[in-house]
Amino acid sequence: MGTTMRLDKFLGQMGKGSRSQIKEMAKKGRIFVNGQAEKKTERKICPETDEVTLDGCKIDYMAFEYYMLNKPQGVVSATEDGRYPTAVELIGSAVRKDLFPAGRLDVDTEGLLLITNDGELAHRLLSPKRHVDKTYYAHILGSLPADSQKQFEAGIILEDGLKTMPAVLNILSEEEPGKDLTAVTLTIQEGKFHQVKRMFQALGCQVVYLKRLSMGSLVLDGKLKPGEYRRLTEEELAGLKKGESIE
Ligand code: URA
Repeated sequence: MGTTMRLDKFLGQMGKGSRSQIKEMAKKGRIFVNGQAEKKTERKICPETDEVTLDGCKIDYMAFEYYMLNKPQGVVSATEDGRYPTAVELIGSAVRKDLFPAGRLDVDTEGLLLITNDGELAHRLLSPKRHVDKTYYAHILGSLPADSQKQFEAGIILEDGLKTMPAVLNILSEEEPGKDLTAVTLTIQEGKFHQVKRMFQALGCQVVYLKRLSMGSLVLDGKLKPGEYRRLTEEELAGLKKGESIE
């Protein structure tokens, strides 16, 4: 037999209400287990094999949820915040209540954010030991020093004296005439606080727009506009699990 859990916990995790609300539903005969009305919400069930229905609708168990969000500016990478809307609040179709962002983007940074409740995968993706590549697209005010690619490759000494790991800078367009911006991509292997902005700052440059394009094997779906999200595909999930399990 697989793992068991309390009926009220199962329904609570699947977003059907609080423990007391679920008790009420059971009292009213709205909950069935394997075809039998069930009033005891503390009873154990096996989520994988027992059939639970609420008002006649079968409730499938979902241990983990995985969403790719294109985080817009003005939204924080958190589950709760007093001031700004949070990335987790944007996932309107979330079933579970224990989702969190796997990683952090600044409030003014856009782009790829993985929202999940899989703590183990998140830990492996974010662990400083794993050096998971993260690629960003950025606009830099003005132009870059001529040797900036070499400097990034060698590692940048930040204002606090710490040296970053080697990073790959791609210059996509030189300063646009009349716009005074340089478009670049930068791939880093770490995730220090404000890392991309601080790396450019160390070269005397200012990042005025920042968007994360990828994290490990996971690439932001170009069809997602800022604020939009979708579930990861099986392939994307398998890729993440495989890639990030390599020591
Ligand atoms: N680096 C930054 O400076 N900001 C981000 O949001 C992500 C990486």
